Amino acid sequence: MIPLQAEDAMAETSEKLKAVTKGVQSTPSGVSRTMLNFLIDASLLFSAMSMTWVSVMLMVVFPVPTRSEGWTLLGMDFNQWRQIQFGLLMVTTLLALEHLVLHWKWVCGVIVTKILKLKNRPDEAIQAVYGVAAFIGTLMMMGALIVVAMLIVQKPPMD
Ligand code: HEM
Repeated sequence: MIPLQAEDAMAETSEKLKAVTKGVQSTPSGVSRTMLNFLIDASLLFSAMSMTWVSVMLMVVFPVPTRSEGWTLLGMDFNQWRQIQFGLLMVTTLLALEHLVLHWKWVCGVIVTKILKLKNRPDEAIQAVYGVAAFIGTLMMMGALIVVAMLIVQKPPMD
């Protein structure tokens, strides 16, 4: 016979485990984690493929930008298609970022166990801090490289 107190403790632990598992498997909106991954992955595939199509089309269908005046496809000229390409790049980047956030635990696990070969994984809050720091560092690096490009770009000589 299991004492009543032990039974209560077991029931409480089981409830807690169920709550934790539910938190991992579903989002606050009630969409399951698997479904959310699927929707993000499918949108990512669609936007990446659309961006690839627009990029290849701009290379092979239109002449070089300096000679594309007057050329249109579906009513849009080179510059309008180039803006669509940039929009798709932004959407793909945001989806890829969300995709990476959803797999962040996996990424940290591989870095800690396979690359750094540490025994103990840092807790999730620390992993999140590393993620945000890596994100801010990457943005700052890209911003700095844009500034460098603006400084070293060669302008045509003035007549
Ligand atoms: C066209 C773009 C991409 C598509 C369609 C795609 C699709 C997928 C799919 C279907 C999975 C497995 C299912 C899941 O757990 O969601 C997955 C896993 C993963 N993806 Fe992507 N992915 C793309 C780009 C990327 C990029 C750019 C990164 C990294 C910057 C990335 C990192 C990962 C990671 C870390 C996993 C987990 C690996 C694992 O659990 O074994 N993916 N991806």
